[in-house]
Order: sequence, then structure tokens, then C-alpha cells
Amino acid sequence: MTAAAGWPRIDGLVYGGDYNPEQWPRETWDEDMALMREAGVTLVSVGIFSWAMLETSEGEFDFGWMDDLLDLLHANGIAADLGTPSVSPPAWFFHRYPQARVVDKDGTVMGFGSRGMASHASPEYREAIVRVATALAERYADHPAVVMWHVHNEYGVPVAEDFSPRAVASWQAWLQRRYGALDALNAAWGTAFWGQRYAEWEHVVAPAATPSIANPAMKLDWARFTDDQLRECFRLERDAIRAHASQPVTTNFMAHQSWNTDLWKWAQEVDVVADDHYLWSPDPDAHVGLALSADLTRSVAGGKPWMLMEHSTSAVNWQGRNTAKRPGEMRRNALTHLGRGADAIMFFQWRASRSGAEKFHSAMLPHAGPRSRVFREVVELGGHLKDLAEVQGSETVADVAMLYDWESLWAQDLEWRPSDDVQFRERMRAFYERLWRDNVTVDFAHPEHDLSRYRMVVAPASYLLTEAAAANLTRYVESGGTLVVNFFSGIVDEHDAVHAGGFLAPLRDALGVTVEEFLPLREGETATVVWGDDGPVVGSDVWQEDVQVHGAEVLATNASGPGAGMPAVTRHAHGSGAGWYVATRLGVDALGTVFSGAYRDAGIVLDGAPETLEVVTRRGPDADFVVAANHADEEARLPVAGVDLLTGDGSDDGFTVPGGGVAVVRVVRASEGTGA
Ligand code: GAL
Repeated sequence: MTAAAGWPRIDGLVYGGDYNPEQWPRETWDEDMALMREAGVTLVSVGIFSWAMLETSEGEFDFGWMDDLLDLLHANGIAADLGTPSVSPPAWFFHRYPQARVVDKDGTVMGFGSRGMASHASPEYREAIVRVATALAERYADHPAVVMWHVHNEYGVPVAEDFSPRAVASWQAWLQRRYGALDALNAAWGTAFWGQRYAEWEHVVAPAATPSIANPAMKLDWARFTDDQLRECFRLERDAIRAHASQPVTTNFMAHQSWNTDLWKWAQEVDVVADDHYLWSPDPDAHVGLALSADLTRSVAGGKPWMLMEHSTSAVNWQGRNTAKRPGEMRRNALTHLGRGADAIMFFQWRASRSGAEKFHSAMLPHAGPRSRVFREVVELGGHLKDLAEVQGSETVADVAMLYDWESLWAQDLEWRPSDDVQFRERMRAFYERLWRDNVTVDFAHPEHDLSRYRMVVAPASYLLTEAAAANLTRYVESGGTLVVNFFSGIVDEHDAVHAGGFLAPLRDALGVTVEEFLPLREGETATVVWGDDGPVVGSDVWQEDVQVHGAEVLATNASGPGAGMPAVTRHAHGSGAGWYVATRLGVDALGTVFSGAYRDAGIVLDGAPETLEVVTRRGPDADFVVAANHADEEARLPVAGVDLLTGDGSDDGFTVPGGGVAVVRVVRASEGTGA
């Protein structure tokens, strides 16, 4: 397939990683080129941390080494994703402009000798990043190696919030633009409570250290402001590049692993969506989190192919216990990203660093060198991506949407909620894992998006739900959709104010219930839920509530706990659809009973594959590509007919996927041809 608009000019699926050759003598670069070619590398990200090497003192540039590097890459047929180094200003910059440093909430000034310590509100910083991006774009716009631009690195990580005096002044100006009049701000923040009324703009504070909790509506706006500041800086650099260069511009997101950036907004600003993902070692099923992250990335990309800009070949170095990937795990991870829409598979980083903060991080070329297991697997994966070239441009198929709203995450995770055990990410993961185990592929959606093409919409954590979003969900049910809503949803509006009419009031028509009072359980306390009069009994914990029924059918009841006898699961027929409500915390297994009923309502038929065989489909113009990753040690059966593109084997009745293995089967659709 041909590359989509905004996609870098590279033939086939993209393969590579971050390349930081300024750490190495020039001879090593030649060895790198030979090994990259052996591995099938087609793209490397360069210059992301190179500010000090490029602008040696203010306004003095040394482009010689970058010229050599780009020429060398081009001579070897490897394209460059050219970074702007704004995440790591040089020592001379902070020496000259000490006021451009980030200040944390306790007033500590972030020092040099790390990365990510510049204040995004600083005019000196903003001027400098535009100067450097302009200089790079002027010089390399027409370089044949440069196929795309990579601005900054992971906005919002390691720091997003900034309480420097300049940031606070920007905050006050931002609030003036948002609210126009102080009366509007006072109303939105509910400052009549606790005597917080503001009479002058310059009296409005930032939510730094406070004796008791800070005003939650202020904190929600602060999260929005912080995100906006970062995006403003991205736009400055992007536009400086676009003034001279025509290649696509991106920045690397961290979907579901960083919380400070509203990726629905960010995705509108980039030419192509790129994401980084690292497995979370304490989680034995970290591949489920990987799938969630990939689906979220594809969704913010509007369903179009996206770039996995970074992941790891084996262990990372920044978690408490950094588990190594076992043989075959990297391949499963990479091809799962591909199944969920990634047309570029990249790593941090090409060659392991001998010095510095990340020397214990794995790489495509580890310290052990090219004779290592990891490098052999890297070469094998490069070969697979060549074999899978025809997958490029196909789109992952999903019939179900899960609602994901960063504003709701920011609001829900503030202090003084009814229970510390109710967490946005925990519920998102539990509901996602239920669907993952059933091989039901999901898109994520903002609650105000058009949801009409989905058979089912799931809301695991929609604490903040605007009136407009609730009306959207209600229309969705009326016109035949199946909606599943978890407790502690539909509670507050965009200002973190409880909805008029009480908890869940905006969804009353769709769900046929409201909530009179929350009944959280004590830490460690468990309860049970019984289905029907004498149906199955499942465990629950953390949460119950006094549900008021307005027409819904009660399907399950709390059998014990503070809400004993009260509804635990309800279903409401509304219009031509159904609204399900889960009023207690159910684990992944117990959610199975809820979803078996909801799938029936939605007309979703499960594929019957074992829970550990992850199956996802990408749809191309002529064929489907079924990607199956086996996370168990035992082999599993994949009952589809076609050709496994990794082995070249064809079958009319299915494939055996070895334990830990992957199959990518081209299935020619019945209307367009026959079988294999
Ligand atoms: C990423 C970052 C990389 C590298 C990597 C290590 O978050 O963008 O520069 O630090 O983590 O896992």
C-alpha cells in the first residue's frame, strides 16, 4: 500500500530506534551502519538530546557532526527522524538564564544535570527553542535522509507542572482568557466555599503547597493550563519547522503512561501520531497494558496507522525491579503493537550507552554485542517486518468503544474522594482486561464523540461527564446502542461541581437509575453479589451504593456489605437500546457475567479462543490480517483459513500458534476471493 498523507516517505513498515551516536567515536558509526543494515533498520531518531552538541554557545552552531551523520545514514539507505533537542537545554543556557528553571510545588528549583528542567513559560526558553528548531529546519529541510521531524521528547515527562513566577503569571493570563470576568471564575470554582472569593486577578494563586487540600476546580483548571503550556511550546517549534520544511512533524506521546497531556487535543496538532510504551514490570500481565496503550494510541490517531516510536528490546532501567524480556517476548510485544495499528516499530535505543543514566537499559545492540540473543531477535524481527509489508495501511477493526477522557482522569484523581480505592486507571484496566480476554477489540472514544458506529460503549471511569456528553450517551442508547456504565460516573460537570439532581442524574434516562448515597467499604473488606434470586454469587469489594431505581431491571443484588439488598447490577431498556449499570467493584472474572449479558444485547459473538490467545484483525482493501499472539506456554488453535505471512504456510482450517508464538494470517475476504 502507499503511505498515507503525513506518513514519512519510507517503503514498507518502518523499523528502527533512537540513535545517539554522539556518545561514540566515529569508527563505531560505521559498525552501526553495517549492523543496522543487517537488522533491516529503515529509520532512526537522531538529535533528540543533542542541544549542547549542536548549539555550543548561544547562537553558535556546530552542525558538522550532524551533517556527517545524516550523509552517512543516507549513504546506507537509512532515513532520519530528526529531533529538536528542546527537552534538554545545555548547561550554558541555565547558567545564563537561571530564571528559566522549573519550580516544583514546594518551591524547589529544578537543577541542571538531568533532563526536562526548563520552564515552558520562560520567554528565554521559548525564544531559544524557536531559534534551534529554525536553524535545524533551514539547514536540513532538503537533506535526503530527513523524512520526518521529532519535536521535543515525551511532553509532560519528567515534569509538567511549573510553579515558577513566570508560570504563575501565565496562569493568571490563561484564566483571564478562559473566564473573561472574575465573577465567572468565582462561580466556576465555587469560591464562596471556604472563603476563597477573588476580587483581583493578581490575587489568584496557583495550587502549590497549601495547608489543607487546594480547591479542586482550581486544580482541574491547573491541569488544563499545564497541558496547554506544553502544547503552546510544541506549536512554536512545529511552526518554526514548517516555515522551512515539508516533512511530517510529530512528537512522541505516552498514552496511558503519562497523565499530563490530553491526547485528544495533541493528536490534532501532529502530522502523524507517535507513541512510546514500556511494560510495567510488577504486572505479570503487562501485555494487557500494552494492548490498552496501543488501542488508545490508535484511537487518538483517528484509527489511522501510527508509529510506535519507542519500546524496549528487553529490560528498562527506571523501575524498582527491571525484568528482562524472555525469548520471543519482544516479538510478541512488537507484533501486538502492529496488530493494533502500528506501522512503525521502533525502540529506545539502537546501541546501549556505556555511560550515563540509562546504561542498564536494554537496546537493539546490547552491551553483549551482535552475538547476543537480543540482537539475533532484533534481526529476526526486522525480517518479519519485511514479510509483513502488505499489512501497511490496513486499519484495526473494533466494534466496541471505551470512553477515555483525560479531564475526567485529572478530576477523579484529586484528593478527598469518597474512597481512595476508586481509581481511574484501575477501573479502566479491569474493564479493558475483561474485553481483552474475550478478544473483543476496543477503540477508545471521548464521551462527546459520535459513537453511532459502535455496537457497545463502555464507561469504566466517567466521573466527570458534561451534560453534552450525557446527552450524547443517552441518544446512543435511544438509537439502539448498548451502554455499560461503571459506578462513580456521571458525578460532576466540567468544573468538578456535582450535577444538579444528584449523582448520575444526567444519565437517569439512559440507565433508569440514580444514586442516593455512596457506601464505600473499609480497606480490605469484601462482599458478595448474587445474580437474580438464586443465580451465581460473585465477589465484590471497595464500593457499594444506595441505587434508586427509576424503571431499570435489577439483575444482581449485594448479598452483604453496607449496601446489602441494594442493586449491584441493573439493565434498562431505553429507546431501542439498553443501559447497563454496575454499582459495585467487580474484578475481571466477575465482570464476565455482566458482559455476557451486554454482549447479547449488542449482538457480539465471541470467538471462543482461549483467554491467553490475543487475536486482533487489521482490515486492508483486499484482505484481513489476523494477528494472534499466544501468551501461554501451551500451543493454541487459531481457527482461521489463510496464509501465515511469518512462515508462508497456508491452511484451510486453522493454525497452531506455539506457546509464546505469534501468527499473522492473511485472510482473503469471501466476497473478494477464496481462502488461502
Ligand atoms: C523514554 C524516553 C527515552 C528513554 C526511555 C527509557 O520515556 O523517551 O529517552 O529514557 O524512556 O525507557
